[in-house]
Amino acid sequence: MADTKPESEQAAATSNNEPIETSAAAAAASSPTSPAQAPAVVLPPEHWTQTALEADDDDADSTLGDDAATSTASITSTILRYRTIRGRTYHSEIGNAQYWGANDERHNEALDVLHHLFTLTLDDQLFLAPLSNPQKALDIGTGTGIWAIDFADKFPQCVVIGTDISPIQPSWIPPNLKFEMDDCTQDWTFGTDNFDFVHIRYLLGCIPDWTHLFKQAFVALKPGGYLESYEGSPNVYSDDNTLPPTSAIAQWGPLFINGGKTIGRSFTIVDDGVQRKAMEEAGFVDIKERMIKVPSGGWSKDPREKELGIWAQHAVESDVEGFILFLTTTLGWTKEQTGVYIAHLRKELRSLKHHVYYYQKVVWGKKPEK
Ligand SMILES: C[S@@+](CC[C@H](N)C(=O)[O-])C[C@H]1O[C@@H](n2cnc3c(N)ncnc32)[C@H](O)[C@@H]1O
Repeated sequence: MADTKPESEQAAATSNNEPIETSAAAAAASSPTSPAQAPAVVLPPEHWTQTALEADDDDADSTLGDDAATSTASITSTILRYRTIRGRTYHSEIGNAQYWGANDERHNEALDVLHHLFTLTLDDQLFLAPLSNPQKALDIGTGTGIWAIDFADKFPQCVVIGTDISPIQPSWIPPNLKFEMDDCTQDWTFGTDNFDFVHIRYLLGCIPDWTHLFKQAFVALKPGGYLESYEGSPNVYSDDNTLPPTSAIAQWGPLFINGGKTIGRSFTIVDDGVQRKAMEEAGFVDIKERMIKVPSGGWSKDPREKELGIWAQHAVESDVEGFILFLTTTLGWTKEQTGVYIAHLRKELRSLKHHVYYYQKVVWGKKPEK
């Protein structure tokens, strides 16, 4: 991926990493659209086995460890019968679901680290929509349920439901929270005018039709209720030419984008402005968005950027394999080739030589009052 960001992104990000909040008029300019349109070429896996690992660097970050029909289904033995791919487990067959991340303990830890990062990007908030006294909330694709648990703790009067296709949520949870097994790409069974808030975070690469998903959220919400969508881009940039296009970090975007094409689920949700478009098509109003620039690695001198960067690196390093193995396998790589790519990626991330960052975007909109 080229290391200069497109003009539309230059408009979207300030140099001091201040989040940008935009409404309808500014939205087109603030959506980074180019990365998805640029051809995302994945280097062949042999590239990694034939390339020497980056030399160790004295600046390297050693603080991180080594590995740093209807939709609702009950937890049946089928759902617990995970698929195993090259030693990692993945969700069982359920509805139309196709999720690329592992669902084992190692990967769940990485999701919890991501939750910490995401919360930091929102200045320790769980959401940006202007909620007042929510009574019923829904978290779609809840993962380990960590966001839903925090939300249920924050609003003890609110009934919270978290759904997922993997039963990886804990059983000790706030009394106002419950988890359900549910494929969100199928028809929802939550009725109409039911929720004050629907929250959907990090489902990139999981959803074949975002407008359909958001239409279902629209139906499930009460008039005046809010939908909030938080997604990230796999594309990585640098402003000072420290990201060679053949580096393992630069290949992160093309790898996900091409993997997503093979499974028919896009990873360029932020890049293509899908969140706002799908919300508009679904009928939401008062749509607002915030673009967030997230460094990867603790290379920045700015304390906030540095903190975000360390957590972003920690999240990826917690389980790089669990993030990419399904997709590299889909692209025809062997497990060994994937392992060598991961070794390159780790070396580069830890070297602090690559001053890279990526974008995350939060978009929220209201179901019109009746
Ligand atoms: C990257 S994780 C994000 C988890 C959580 N939203 C968070 O931000 O911490 C994506 C989650 O979506 C779930 N998922 C993927 N496809 C889904 C589907 N069709 N229906 C419901 N959940 C799905 C996965 O099982 C996984 O737990």
